[in-house]
Amino acid sequence: MKKTVKDIDIKGKKVLVRVDFNVPMEDGKITDDFRIVSSLKTINYLLENGAKVVLMSHLGRPKGEYNKKYSLKPVAERLSELINCEVKFLETEVPANGDTVALADSLKEGEIMLLENTRFVPGEEKNDAELAKLFARHGEIFVNDAFGTAHRAHASNVGVSSLLPAVAGFLVEDEIKYIGNNLDNPSHPFVAILGGAKVSDKIGVINNLLEKCDSILIGGAMANTFLAAKGYDMGKSLVEEDKICLAKEILKKAEEKGVNLLLPVDLIATDSLEKSTNIRVVGLGDDMKGVMAVDIGDETIASFSKIIKDAKLIIWNGPMGVFENEKFSKGTFSIAKAIAESNAISIIGGGDSALAVKLSGYEEKVSHVSTGGGASLEMMEGKTLPGIAALMEA
Ligand code: 3PG
Repeated sequence: MKKTVKDIDIKGKKVLVRVDFNVPMEDGKITDDFRIVSSLKTINYLLENGAKVVLMSHLGRPKGEYNKKYSLKPVAERLSELINCEVKFLETEVPANGDTVALADSLKEGEIMLLENTRFVPGEEKNDAELAKLFARHGEIFVNDAFGTAHRAHASNVGVSSLLPAVAGFLVEDEIKYIGNNLDNPSHPFVAILGGAKVSDKIGVINNLLEKCDSILIGGAMANTFLAAKGYDMGKSLVEEDKICLAKEILKKAEEKGVNLLLPVDLIATDSLEKSTNIRVVGLGDDMKGVMAVDIGDETIASFSKIIKDAKLIIWNGPMGVFENEKFSKGTFSIAKAIAESNAISIIGGGDSALAVKLSGYEEKVSHVSTGGGASLEMMEGKTLPGIAALMEA
């Protein structure tokens, strides 16, 4: 168990907090503030308990140099609105310098500032010791609440942790509780629902889950590769030809371990994603010439939903189809509904699955939506995340 903000005295202290404000933006506007909202519990706790708060985060991948497009200014403004208090922000071309240190030193209890994008300098992603020291000058205590970045060993999370007393924020604590603890001690029946484009992205997760799950339900484009491995012609569908052998091995391993691995029995197929002129339901073995699978069909929804209904623990990572297009969203949204209606503890992996649950309208009905994309996947693989490993034990 890791120490958290609750385990330390923060009153009157400068608290440096790594958050993950890597939010989607379009034309300089934040399109989804889920990650900012998810960090409010820690930020408000610190402010209400008399800390002087210095936040830092990355945004996007500016490749170690200043790029206005990746400035955190819009994030500082959004955060100010959410907490109803000024978030001090210096428009610097580097995340930290003498001015930002001086601003941190001038903060009064209950005041807050945000540093500019930590990835505006090359040392961040190299976990550079000098940069970590510069970051550390902004605080007396370090709180890591950036779960989304916990799978990276960077100066602003791992580097700083070795220089200041380092504890977890509430968001990181919650992610460990839901993903880590439930995977370590799963309730049964334990059902994993996996989707998304590629088998190759999920191979580590599948291998770990084959040791723990009762059922694995596979949809999305990755199901195409499994169906191709079973000998079905998938027409124009996305199939990872070089992963067909791997898919065969996984099917065999599931059988040996007695894991109920279910694949779609019917699919929604179309001739084109952009300009569909022919959308139809296809069964396994039907002619798929000139069409591609873009969603799971009604029979598959029914069989997956039946398993979901009896589950005690569910994890879901990856959509069942091209849900961004309304015509192909039924499978993904029906699975979200089935999960919401079950009595299971339900954990939704970040990224696409988090967005799918949000758009389905069932976000409030699931137990936990992770803020991590790659980080939640790595935790589901059973890997140790460096950002978390670096924090103090309770
Ligand atoms: C994420 O969005 O998964 C995290 O913020 C990490 O971003 P990265 O993949 O660019 O390191």
